[in-house]
Amino acid sequence: MPTTVTFLGHGSFLIETAGTHVLIDPFLTDNPVASTTAEDVPAEVIILTHGHGDHVGDAVAIANRTGALVIANFEITQWLQGQGVENTHPMHIGGAHAFDWGVVKLTIAQHGSMLPDGANGGNPCGVVLTLDDGTIYHAADTGLFYDMKLIGEQGIDLAIVPIGDNFTMGPEDAIRAVNLIAPVRVIPDHYDTWPLIAQDGQAWAERVRSETSSEPLVLQPGQSCSLGAG
Ligand code: NI
Ligand code: MN
Repeated sequence: MPTTVTFLGHGSFLIETAGTHVLIDPFLTDNPVASTTAEDVPAEVIILTHGHGDHVGDAVAIANRTGALVIANFEITQWLQGQGVENTHPMHIGGAHAFDWGVVKLTIAQHGSMLPDGANGGNPCGVVLTLDDGTIYHAADTGLFYDMKLIGEQGIDLAIVPIGDNFTMGPEDAIRAVNLIAPVRVIPDHYDTWPLIAQDGQAWAERVRSETSSEPLVLQPGQSCSLGAG
């Protein structure tokens, strides 16, 4: 079955691949645009990119309800253990690990990672998923960095990049990021959650069409795409 990618709003995505629900940065309860709830969302795996509240979100509650394996940097998994989440897999930047549904590799991201209670969340990360039918790079919260070119050299079928500005790249730098990564398709995220990060996703998509060789895909919260299909 092809991998399905569903945008849940903000930086949250649900990826269904090889019979596994992989939830990235599940921020639902306090997310004004969330398309599902912490009580309903399925998860066998949760990946956290960094420690900020709008990314750790409902991870503890969902992990406790579902028993999902939580994958994150070492510092965040240590913190999760202290929150009663025992099923964790620590990783760190540059490291990859093969799970039975796909390979996870953490990348750098230029951002912060303090946890909601002030604990040290290590360094922020992006994530590359190598799945049966393609590769996904979720850049997570980050400013533009030139090493995106190295990440793109692995061959990225679907990139997810922030365009909200203020806390992350804005539309202009996100276009430069797309040109560095050169993914087949790109989804914008981390915008329109609050007025501070309001952006015109369709206008940005037009710029992707005219200024890059990638195909934009603007998903509303709750919308899905399949990884393989063009
Ligand atoms: Ni953040
Ligand atoms: Mn964020």
